[in-house]
Amino acid sequence: MSWALVVSAPEEEAELVASELFDSGALGVEVQDHSLPLMPGTPALPDGRARLIAHFASREEVFELAQLTSGEPLEIEEQDWSVSWRAHHKTMRMGPRSWVRPPWEELKLSPGEVAVAIDPGMAFGTGSHPTTSLCCERVDELLQTFPGADVLDIGTGTGVIALIAARLGAARVVGTENDPVALAAARKGAALNGIDSVDWLLAENPDDVPGEFGIVIANILLNPLEELAVQIAQRVAPRGRLVLSGLLSAQGDAAVHAYVQQGLRYVERKERDGWCRVELARD
Ligand SMILES: C[S@@+](CC[C@H](N)C(=O)[O-])C[C@H]1O[C@@H](n2cnc3c(N)ncnc32)[C@H](O)[C@@H]1O
Repeated sequence: MSWALVVSAPEEEAELVASELFDSGALGVEVQDHSLPLMPGTPALPDGRARLIAHFASREEVFELAQLTSGEPLEIEEQDWSVSWRAHHKTMRMGPRSWVRPPWEELKLSPGEVAVAIDPGMAFGTGSHPTTSLCCERVDELLQTFPGADVLDIGTGTGVIALIAARLGAARVVGTENDPVALAAARKGAALNGIDSVDWLLAENPDDVPGEFGIVIANILLNPLEELAVQIAQRVAPRGRLVLSGLLSAQGDAAVHAYVQQGLRYVERKERDGWCRVELARD
């Protein structure tokens, strides 16, 4: 048997709630909403509401979170739920030169292109979430503008951004995580791709990462981005760029404000499916 937490949320907030569940340690989150037919036998959804089924490593985690949220614990028959995800994990273009593919799909690359294989299920970052694709796209573009830059990926999840950066020739690449399960998934992903040049660091605070980086990327939520603004901004090298996501479109300005206060200059923002990425520079 394994344990999951079932949470009901307004449909427009489902992705945000899913991100929060991942932040709370979920190994995988299934979102059921009105955009797709439900599997036979699945209870109908109330109008305008989505159901999230978050899978956790232990029963304790589920019960602890159930007390903090309006979620209900669910005991499920042993099943390899990570396998059922595979049906949804497809090869995706991330940026001008980069792709993410499932390990079981082959991909013929054009000259100059790179791909990383990501096995879904253990951490956030298969490439399908708009914030992941927004960040991967930008790291690809920035490494065209600043070839061989150093890259710091804060909240690396599966490691997808750091792995793409390594494949695209970044010099020093560091991926940090505050969740040991996700960090283990990132290390596994690096081995799967035969990439041994990335430093993986268990760190809640970017102060623990020595040095400065030409490109710093943090796809974490607005709250930690605001709380860690001093420490994240300090990691951006002179003439370096900072890319922030994990932000709903309405939260972009607040993130920019927090980092302008740290002396960075606003460069641009890009939106996708209600989420956004913002970019700042250190002059
Ligand atoms: C939205 S996921 C992003 C994963 C991946 N970078 C991507 O773009 O798909 C955010 C990740 O950041 C991690 N995280 C949250 N706060 C963090 C912090 N203060 N330091 C390091 N990692 C953090 C979470 O555990 C989670 O794996």
